[in-house]
Amino acid sequence: MPEPRRILLGVCGGVAAYKAAELVRELQRRGAEVRVMMTRAAQEFVRPLTFAALTGHKVYTSMWETSEDQAAMEHIEQAQWAEVLVIAPATAHTLARLSAGLADDLLSTTYLATDARVVLAPAMNVKMWNHAATRANLETLERRGHRIVAPGSGYLACGMTGDGRLADTEAIVQAAFEQEPERVASVDPASAAQDLAGETVLVTAGGTREPIDAVRFIGNRSSGRMGYALAEAAQRRGARVILVSAARTLPAPAGCEVMPVETAEDMHAAVLYRLPEATIVIKAAAVSDFRVREVSASKLHREAPRKIELEPTEDIVRSVIERRAPGTLVIAFAAEMGLDVERAQEKLRRKGADAIFLNDISQQGVGFDADRNAGVFLSEAAEVRLPEMSKSEVADRILDEIVLLRAAKAVAR
Ligand SMILES: Cc1cc2nc3c(=O)[nH]c(=O)nc-3n(C[C@H](O)[C@H](O)[C@H](O)COP(=O)(O)O)c2cc1C
Repeated sequence: MPEPRRILLGVCGGVAAYKAAELVRELQRRGAEVRVMMTRAAQEFVRPLTFAALTGHKVYTSMWETSEDQAAMEHIEQAQWAEVLVIAPATAHTLARLSAGLADDLLSTTYLATDARVVLAPAMNVKMWNHAATRANLETLERRGHRIVAPGSGYLACGMTGDGRLADTEAIVQAAFEQEPERVASVDPASAAQDLAGETVLVTAGGTREPIDAVRFIGNRSSGRMGYALAEAAQRRGARVILVSAARTLPAPAGCEVMPVETAEDMHAAVLYRLPEATIVIKAAAVSDFRVREVSASKLHREAPRKIELEPTEDIVRSVIERRAPGTLVIAFAAEMGLDVERAQEKLRRKGADAIFLNDISQQGVGFDADRNAGVFLSEAAEVRLPEMSKSEVADRILDEIVLLRAAKAVAR
């Protein structure tokens, strides 16, 4: 496939707008013809003249600037011209407009009118980046098949420190020159790769609840979204899926057999009951490590201080490994504060699982009770780092690794 050469760069109104000038230069250096479109807010930060000088083209700034006798429709012309639409920096506001399909300025209207591949490089204040509205918009745009070049972390112009800094120019350039991502095709169930056909995937999801008394319990913040995304993706890729779920609010994924459970003990029993059917076990649930030794049948009252004695729950991964049929793959999950790969490797060896997915729950907006995730997939042979992305995308990437693992084990046999 030839490299894209006609790149339309959309610049939005953020402090990082000045970095778009360097981006133009780098894209040109890699052989692209670049044209620039600016939002009204972007022009508050950088003058169109800068980009006109760099590109040797007029800079597109408004739908209304042409005279009646010219009757030009810039949004259609530029939409048709572009092979890739790169928006950098993409503001929270523009992401919201694109997500909603609004067409109230030249850039958003061009976005709706183009068949070009879309690359979005957001940059904003860390609170704006972590806001549920921005997360939901990014999720929608990602599901549409657009490439999100996640911002970096560090000191921000607003004086705060955290995620939100425009990604490095090189990362944006690379994304602009990538080929059409496969995952666009995999969203369509009819054309999805059926690389898990013939497998029965047993997935656990959600956070277990350990009762304290008639109304209270010990729980955790796991929503079950990662496990559900894995179940959905495995089903789409041709597997039969059994989902043992401690999640309570998520709709059952189409085509999967769901077994609802409450406690670690329930989950242990359900998993071992279905284990003989499974060829792949993915342990994405957050299972309580402890249960209350003596559960009160009635509601406890606030009369005096009270000590609650805890005892360890069943180690489900260990039981699965002891009892699995030869060839059944076991993938464990580890939610840790920080990405301690060595510790995860040690856990992998100790447990005897085939692979472990380590996710860092110390980061805001990823992992527990969030729509996005990031982490490291570790097996004996692989250490694959997955940058922050939607949980459905993480699910597909984990399944890609499991498919490779299955193939490697088959060769080794
Ligand atoms: C000094 C200043 C810096 C700003 N920086 C950002 C930013 O980095 N990211 C962002 O999403 N919005 C930022 N904003 C807010 C946007 O400019 C504002 O939401 C605007 O409506 C965006 O319009 P646009 O998306 O059409 O470019 C900033 C505003 C000001 C005044």
